[in-house]
Amino acid sequence: MTGPVTIDFLETDLDEIARAEGRVAVFVSPDGKLDKSARRVNRLTRGVLDRMVQSSDFGKMKPAQVTSLAYPSGMAAEALDVVCLARNPDLAEARKAGVALGKAKGTKPLLVLAGQLRRAEEIAKGIALRAYEFTAHKTAERETAAGVRVMVSKPDETAAAAKQLLAAVEGVHLTRDLVSEPANHLTTTEFAQRIERMKDLGLTIRIFDEAALEKIGMHSLLSVGHGSASPSKVAVMEWMGGRKGDAPLALLGKGVIFDTGGISLKPAAGMEDMTMDMGGAGVVVGTMHALARRGARANVVGIVGLVENMPSDRATRPGDVIPSLKGDTIEVINTDAEGRLVLCDLLWYMQQEYQPAAMVDLATLTGAIIIGLGHEKAGVFSNDETFCKAFLKAAEAEGEGAWHMPLDPAYDEKLKSEIADMKNVGGREAGSITAAQFLKRFVKDEVPWIHLDIAGVALVKAETAHAPKGATGWGVMALDRLVAENYET
Ligand code: BES
Ligand code: ZN
Ligand code: MN
Repeated sequence: MTGPVTIDFLETDLDEIARAEGRVAVFVSPDGKLDKSARRVNRLTRGVLDRMVQSSDFGKMKPAQVTSLAYPSGMAAEALDVVCLARNPDLAEARKAGVALGKAKGTKPLLVLAGQLRRAEEIAKGIALRAYEFTAHKTAERETAAGVRVMVSKPDETAAAAKQLLAAVEGVHLTRDLVSEPANHLTTTEFAQRIERMKDLGLTIRIFDEAALEKIGMHSLLSVGHGSASPSKVAVMEWMGGRKGDAPLALLGKGVIFDTGGISLKPAAGMEDMTMDMGGAGVVVGTMHALARRGARANVVGIVGLVENMPSDRATRPGDVIPSLKGDTIEVINTDAEGRLVLCDLLWYMQQEYQPAAMVDLATLTGAIIIGLGHEKAGVFSNDETFCKAFLKAAEAEGEGAWHMPLDPAYDEKLKSEIADMKNVGGREAGSITAAQFLKRFVKDEVPWIHLDIAGVALVKAETAHAPKGATGWGVMALDRLVAENYET
């Protein structure tokens, strides 16, 4: 399966139900009542839904649960997916039903009989979120996934709402593609080129190469890529859809295309996963794509630092002291704590150049956050209670796990260096918090800021509430909603 599935909304056509190939999804409300489309399915199959509703199994069906019946008689479809769902489901239930259908779908065409059902667009979103697979490098599985058709009573109204939702899904899929792509394919140069192509969506894109970054003074960021043949780059994406002159929201992403640890080399086991160390940058790019795609009426600037952390004779050594763009000097104790060296220069640059209204940085920053929160929730650190609450609310509404973690000057002790202004590591204890405290030194007190440590949620080994196992695209939907609810004019 390649590429995102297409979703079309069309008016309910009872004749098409018998003819549709692939899969057909029909909804039955928990009280057992059948709508017009369901009654049609029932007639075609000579009472399958009646029998199901009357069975003791139906009483045990949970909301949004799907029961698949193979080769229903009277229909051309290979499978009939019966979904138990209230006619006016809440957002989470509708999404869940969609996800269950998306999981069952595979590469087959799917006809969804939504009729009068509310939130048909949310169901479509769930389907699209789940119906994803990264097969770019599987030579045998080039089969393109067939599309989804959703039959509703008012297709025009639904399609308008769906356009907004599906812009977010496209962003999620873009993030997943980027995170899944191996580092020999997604080099810093290739990443920058993919970003550059987004100017077709109306974004203003600026790419800085090493010479330009040297001139700006991003020596901390540059120090991370010294050992790599892939040149370090910074990409800026501007979406100025809001009022002219309004200070933008800034999104900043760690884009380490591969993290070997550098001279402080990581152990071999599991190192292949470090191809996802550009996950923060991936979410920033996916979100900017979503905002542009739906024409968000907000000013948002994205910036990503694209580097590769490699050992070599030119690589940064433990013990090296490096000047940051802000001017503060950093003693590199461990070259594997490289994400913060990238972000600190991005944060400072953003504040210098854009005077942002607020900043959100995203990074697969610490293994410690996985020890603390596992793969269910990202760590949320913030210097601003109101801003933080707004984000947590958006994440909750989108079903993207997030947990508020503390910041405290007391942790700064751990970052004291004998010979420089700070060291880049604070030891094993509270590793995620000391990393956040490090970043906080590069954030002006008056700028509301959130740091999201997404090391645990960017890539998962088992399916989540709306993603198959692998890259999740966590954060795109929450950020898109954060913008919609707080920054649109
Ligand atoms: N990219 C890693 C963090 C990471 C670990 C992401 C596992 C995803 C899964 C980061 O650059 C790193 O190596 N952090 C070190 C910091 C330590 C040296 C202070 C870590 O967490 O071990
Ligand atoms: Zn890293
Ligand atoms: Mn590292």
